[in-house]
Amino acid sequence: MKGLILSGGKGTRLRPLTYTRAKQLLPLANKPVLFYAIESLLEAGIRDIGIIVGDTFAEIEATVREAQSSWPEDTKITFIQQDAPLGLAHAVKTAQPFLGDDRFVMFLGDNLIGESLAERVREFDAPGCPYRCHILLAEVEDPSQFGIAELEPMPAHNPAPVDAPALVRVRRLIEKPKRPPSNLALVGVYFFDPTIFTAADAIRPSTRGELEITDAIQWLIDAGHDVRAQRLSGYWIDTGKMEDILDANRQVLLNMTESIAPTARISEDSSLTGIVVIEDGAVIENSVIRGPAIIGARTTLRNAYVGPFTSIYHDVVIETCEIEFSIVLEHSVVSNVRGRIEESLIGRHAEVHTSALKPRAHKLMLGDHSRVGILPS
Ligand code: G1P
Repeated sequence: MKGLILSGGKGTRLRPLTYTRAKQLLPLANKPVLFYAIESLLEAGIRDIGIIVGDTFAEIEATVREAQSSWPEDTKITFIQQDAPLGLAHAVKTAQPFLGDDRFVMFLGDNLIGESLAERVREFDAPGCPYRCHILLAEVEDPSQFGIAELEPMPAHNPAPVDAPALVRVRRLIEKPKRPPSNLALVGVYFFDPTIFTAADAIRPSTRGELEITDAIQWLIDAGHDVRAQRLSGYWIDTGKMEDILDANRQVLLNMTESIAPTARISEDSSLTGIVVIEDGAVIENSVIRGPAIIGARTTLRNAYVGPFTSIYHDVVIETCEIEFSIVLEHSVVSNVRGRIEESLIGRHAEVHTSALKPRAHKLMLGDHSRVGILPS
């Protein structure tokens, strides 16, 4: 079985960060979100992985190649260029030469799931598996933002073990419905056999001009093929917006194991509590860290407080200020800020500080689509 990860999207809802970086490379607990998708497939035993890329091809390829040695030796990663972001079913068509006659798992590169795919991969790959497609569902609060499933009623005799979410047959799927028939959204992880190519060839673009994977799966249902769904039991986060990135970061930090690199220097007047990861060469002076939190390589904290659910990436300086439930990207400096910084996402090479220069005023240089919340005085 092969894996196909979609990493071609532009991430418009995460501007300005995505003007200069692929959204799939934004780090959660100091690791690109895309790597969680790759590692999910590897953990399920899949070694032959294709990654669909768009305009941000070069940056994604360089970052993945650099990390390749940390994955099993037989991991094979193939990059597949999609000429234009014309939809998820278009991406599947683009990947057909790579996928050939194999069954495959498609994983959206900005989705994060909190459970193993190993058992599902084993079942879907078993000889004689009757399903052509297997989808995962999760309850959402705003069904009009997702692909939504309507299920067949449950059979009286349900063969699934009581503690496992049952496999049910799908009746209908609708992409971003105005009047949703349920609150069960399609998670960005799909299992397909090659019949999906016939479906993707048969459908027409949606009103948003894309070949929707939801329509392709609906085509399979209408053609009488067995499409099964199962509810995800762990968490699922589509990291499309800043709030989702912070939430995903929180989930990943919660599952970390504490570790302090031998090359890190922590002064005696500093204190660390909870799950804290300190990476190579970080310097912590007269600071308080309350985990779960991660401090990146060569980052300096001085007279600082770093609170729960915070990821500070590499080569950052945090000095005389307090920050929590936030992400700070590499080479940024945050210093002498009064009041705690919370729920913030600070990009690369950013500077945040208090200035003594006259006139006394907020002086801002922000990228397009930036958002700043200033405390009332
Ligand atoms: C896509 C799919 C949608 C699915 C979602 C999951 O939406 O079209 O069916 O529920 O991913 O993340 P998009 O991100 O293209 O809006």
